[in-house]
Amino acid sequence: MLLPLRAHHPARSLCGPLTNKAWGRPSGLLLRSRVPLRLPITGAVPAGAQSSIYARRFATTPTARMSLPSKISAIGINKTGDFDVIEKLELPFPQNAPGNVLIKVQYGGVNFIDTYFRKGLYPISQFPQALGREAAGEVIALPTDESVLSNEEYKLRGLKVGARVAANTLGAFSEYVSVPWNKVYALPEHLSTRVAAASLLQGATALTFVTEAYNVQKGDVVLVHTVAGGLGLIFAQLIKARGATVIGTTSTPEKAALAKAHGADHVILYTKEDLVQRVLELTNGEGVHAIFDGVGKDTFEADLKVIRRKGTLVSVGNASGAVPPFPPLRLVEKNVKLLRPTLDNYIYTPEEGRTYVTELFKLIENGTVKINIHGDYPFTAEGVQQSQKDLTGGKTTGKLLIKISDA
Ligand SMILES: NC(=O)c1ccc[n+]([C@@H]2O[C@H](COP(=O)([O-])OP(=O)(O)OC[C@H]3O[C@@H](n4cnc5c(N)ncnc54)[C@H](OP(=O)(O)O)[C@@H]3O)[C@@H](O)[C@H]2O)c1
Repeated sequence: MLLPLRAHHPARSLCGPLTNKAWGRPSGLLLRSRVPLRLPITGAVPAGAQSSIYARRFATTPTARMSLPSKISAIGINKTGDFDVIEKLELPFPQNAPGNVLIKVQYGGVNFIDTYFRKGLYPISQFPQALGREAAGEVIALPTDESVLSNEEYKLRGLKVGARVAANTLGAFSEYVSVPWNKVYALPEHLSTRVAAASLLQGATALTFVTEAYNVQKGDVVLVHTVAGGLGLIFAQLIKARGATVIGTTSTPEKAALAKAHGADHVILYTKEDLVQRVLELTNGEGVHAIFDGVGKDTFEADLKVIRRKGTLVSVGNASGAVPPFPPLRLVEKNVKLLRPTLDNYIYTPEEGRTYVTELFKLIENGTVKINIHGDYPFTAEGVQQSQKDLTGGKTTGKLLIKISDA
């Protein structure tokens, strides 16, 4: 059975896990009594299991023989709060809903959104909740729902047992995840699971935002805050590749050098320079055509000063805190367009997801986008805590990963 569209609504994914089992929240009911589990080869079902739910779910899965645990380790939270709420969780093996893909995770990507969930800025509906919003690894089991298997978009995904994939999913810092098929992307030969986990969320965000939030054109001048971060470095490369001028902001000369090496034409050290004055100098007083602002609260007022008439201000995130309530009347001064988009709404349909992620993977393959990895953190509570401390402390450049298992 295909999930009703309502169950996929991005606003729900932003707001934490869904109770709908098709989203793969571990239920613990399916596999608990079978330790170690032997998944069948070419449709064979273990003796005595023919009439069980287990048999129905996995009977058609031509997967290699393997043992699966009844419990899995994950890193997540039981309540919201400071870094120390992050703990090791023991969760039931994830039930693979008929429309889902079961993945053994190798890498989880660290994103600022992990900190929003941990702090409670983005609500979580149920605890315990594993953290992590993107994963890459190997397919263990495929959907069994006939309507999925016959869906043309599903076929175009080319998903196979044993294939390497990347997935957008909440709860990625887990040994196994079960993810609706339309959030899972097979990796091309050139792309490792490590680079895939480092590029899926931020790469797709940058690509969709420079295409749909503001369609960057040759000759534009575009301001990117957090330009040396994971998302910012990809923004800089994509904007530059379109023939536009990139002005970035960052805190240190080292970060500025990295941003320049990734396409930024001018980098403003907001710790030493007057941001508004410098942007106006660089644009002959006119301001920029578009702004991608991942800082939020601290930069919003300056953005309104440096956006040009009819410019587009894209509020991307909240690294310094959420932008406070804002009267739309303030936009009349320059007829500014203001957006606060999220990736999920740009890759809402299976076709949108496939199209953008395929393009992203091509841009990585042809060298237009280089993925800069800051480092791998261990799959422990301390490792995930440290990743969040480093990210929110502004100590990092590029992408942070959690290494969950070997390939
Ligand atoms: N809307 C979406 O769908 C979407 C998707 C992905 C990411 N995002 C957003 O994009 C932004 C960047 O995400 P990222 O994961 O790539 O992080 P990141 O840019 O790698 O790290 C955050 C950077 O923000 C800068 N920063 C400025 N003020 C800060 C403050 N008060 N506290 C902490 N950091 C501050 C720091 O860089 P400097 O030292 O250079 O200032 C820091 O390194 C975040 O706001 C995130 O939520 C949004």
